[in-house]
Amino acid sequence: MNPVKVGLLGLGTVGCGTVSVLARNGDEIARRAGRGITITRAAARDLSRPRGCDTGGIALTDDAMAVVDDPQVEVVVELIGGDTLARELVLRAIDNGKHVVTANKALIAKHGNELFARAREKGVMVAFEAAVAGGIPVIKALREGLAGNRIEWLAGIINGTGNFILTEMRDKGRDFADVLAEAQQLGYAEADPTFDVEGIDAAHKLTILAAIAFGIPLRFEHVYTEGISRITREDVAYAGELGYRIKHLGVARLTPAGVELRVHPTLIPERRLIANVDGVMNAVLIKGDAVGPTLYYGAGAGAEATASAVVADLVDVVRALTSDPENRVPHLAFQHDALADLPILPIEETRSACYLRLRAEDRPGVLAEITRILGEQEISIEAVIQKEPPDSGTPATVILLTQRVVERAMNTAIARIEALPSISGSVTRIRVETLKD
Ligand code: NDP
Ligand code: HSE
Repeated sequence: MNPVKVGLLGLGTVGCGTVSVLARNGDEIARRAGRGITITRAAARDLSRPRGCDTGGIALTDDAMAVVDDPQVEVVVELIGGDTLARELVLRAIDNGKHVVTANKALIAKHGNELFARAREKGVMVAFEAAVAGGIPVIKALREGLAGNRIEWLAGIINGTGNFILTEMRDKGRDFADVLAEAQQLGYAEADPTFDVEGIDAAHKLTILAAIAFGIPLRFEHVYTEGISRITREDVAYAGELGYRIKHLGVARLTPAGVELRVHPTLIPERRLIANVDGVMNAVLIKGDAVGPTLYYGAGAGAEATASAVVADLVDVVRALTSDPENRVPHLAFQHDALADLPILPIEETRSACYLRLRAEDRPGVLAEITRILGEQEISIEAVIQKEPPDSGTPATVILLTQRVVERAMNTAIARIEALPSISGSVTRIRVETLKD
């Protein structure tokens, strides 16, 4: 049988990784897929740029739409990024009756509902394993391997750049800007690296994971998002003294009132495996009611690691070429007419334990004022550390760990503590997850 002809959009980090993996492992991939897979055409913006892969035998163009419209191309792989041109290209590919593979989480998180509906109408697949956690086959695990479970919650380190920055800063004392520049040079970062640093990329990925976990539409605009740029060395050190690591975590939790969807720096007990996931590695912890907790770990970004997921999707698409569209695995795991319209909770209604750091006058009674305010909001304290001030007369640093509490009560308590004359500056709050239940 003739090889399946693929049109590739984008020859950057992931595009070139895909060309290389398909070339190197082509025979094994064909034995798995049942047919060879050949990239016949590829598009890039600037054809004069040197490429990090061998594009011999591939017809190159700077007109991505021409690849999508090429009648010879059976499957389109979108690796350009962004959600404007990429959306147009993917919709056109679908309208042309072509299956699509993409690594583009922004596209899926923001336009997936539209794309999947159009793909269903046209009987084609849109596959997106590489969009979440790079090379880790977590979408496959969640959509297929855990299909017998009611998913209770999931929590993941799902941005490689952010985890790489936090690890290098903690272990080597390196500067934020310097590590970010290295992540960009290694091809880990998004075209706009604020997506990595401010948690937007992780929010895209959490949107996708939550939709598949709970059978809800993609609701990116409802994700509460905080990035890593405000984490200080001081907090990393104090967290360590308390037996915690600070990680940038995406958390999705099903509660009786609705779904919590939040991305923020988080203290995790250092004995948890996920607290020890460092560098560009990602990990996703998923709690199913039947299986209990399961953990998926691997490279979260990078050329060939991501290409591994792109090629796995290509193999799935090739295997499904002859199958009845009604009997394929649904895009969001649940049948499209069985998605639930669960509310996404505003951050004020979510519950987490908290780490609080504040600067207080070093005199008797100050700690009592703080604990009284917390007590009035029914916030229990788990631990308190008071650091001696460097000089007498300067404020002391106080660190508190609280038990789990609804965010609204914590906001009220923080506002009242900040208003005390004995407190200088604002209170630093970092949420804590024990990841036990
Ligand atoms: P790159 O910036 O390295 O590559 C983008 C490619 O798209 C380049 O080859 C560029 O051409 C091409 N391109 C851009 N605009 C056009 C256009 N108008 N017409 C034709 N070609 C165009 O990005 P990545 O490979 O890093 O990322 C690609 C996608 O994969 C993104 O959605 C990203 O979020 C996702 N992703 C990335 C991962 C990673 O580790 N990098 C991991 C997982 C997902 P030129 O080279 O000429 O500029
Ligand atoms: N910029 C992303 C990251 C790429 O660092 O995780 C992988 O999705």
